Amino acid sequence: MFVAMFSVRMRVAFGVITALLIALVSSTYALADGPWPNDPQGPQAKSIADLYWIMFVAAVVVLAIVDGGIIYAGIKFRERPGHVAKQFHGQNFLELTWTIIPTLMVVSFSVLSWQKLDFINNTRSSDVGMVIQAQGSQWTWTFSYPHEDRFKLLDSTYLKTGEELHIPVGMKVRIELSAKDVIHSFWVPSIGGKKDAVPGRATELWIQADKPGTYKGQCFEFCGDGHADMLITLVAHQQSDYAAWAQQAVKDANVFLDPATKVGRELFFSLACVGCHTIDKTTAQGKVGPNLTHLMSRKSIAGGALSPVNEENLTRWVSNPPAVKPGTLMPNLGLSQQQVHDIVLFLQTLK
Ligand code: CUA
Repeated sequence: MFVAMFSVRMRVAFGVITALLIALVSSTYALADGPWPNDPQGPQAKSIADLYWIMFVAAVVVLAIVDGGIIYAGIKFRERPGHVAKQFHGQNFLELTWTIIPTLMVVSFSVLSWQKLDFINNTRSSDVGMVIQAQGSQWTWTFSYPHEDRFKLLDSTYLKTGEELHIPVGMKVRIELSAKDVIHSFWVPSIGGKKDAVPGRATELWIQADKPGTYKGQCFEFCGDGHADMLITLVAHQQSDYAAWAQQAVKDANVFLDPATKVGRELFFSLACVGCHTIDKTTAQGKVGPNLTHLMSRKSIAGGALSPVNEENLTRWVSNPPAVKPGTLMPNLGLSQQQVHDIVLFLQTLK
């Protein structure tokens, strides 16, 4: 009975509105796990979120008044038998109202935005505690840490990290952006605004995290096939933990630069090893044999034939695998004793 009160057109309209509401609500759940602008965790992100909420609430009020009026008029004055449309034009009061109020709103939003933009764009204030360079390339970010002793590596270059960006909490950090190939955009919404990284042009923004934690970011400018997977993981450390993180990161990076293991590493990457084995984040991506990324953390090698994993067993294995485990897929590469020694030295860096 209730349904029969409404025309077909109105029922269709209700259906469409319901479907849109469901789509809106379900997309919120889909977003809950990803980068989300309304979860500010730093002063920069907070000021953006404040602006967002002021404008959002104002927009909802305007939407309710305007759409409410349209729906009211549409129902009350709709065409039906026995009703004759009233003819008139000009309504000074109404026309002034809907001109003046929107004008005031737009002007106040502009003033408010300008005020906040001063704060948001101020990357050169004296309280900047650290400068990190971020380079976008298809499809990853590389972060270069300042030329300070604590970030210095064995080869006199300075620490770089890929995809992960590490900052201390409570510190204003300037991010200087560049792009290697096409335009990318740096965006970690909980921590700060977004900024394009443009080839041949220097751009920058500042970020700050109030609390330690891991924050997700996403390249926000379509940059090719891998764009959707061009992610940023921002890790904010307690100030007291940051030095320890830096020390460990430098140590890890130095493993690959250590002259003692350099020869073996170069041998490994020039021999057939890389055809079968993977070491994460390197050019060794073979899939036939075991992944060696954390070799030294394993309990055994050669499918359990040799245990524990130490210099002696690695030497036996690399020297002549079929002699240890007949029928193994790993061939005897016929390496010299010195070559075996160098490779084993390198393998022992794979913790
Ligand atoms: Cu880089 Cu999108």
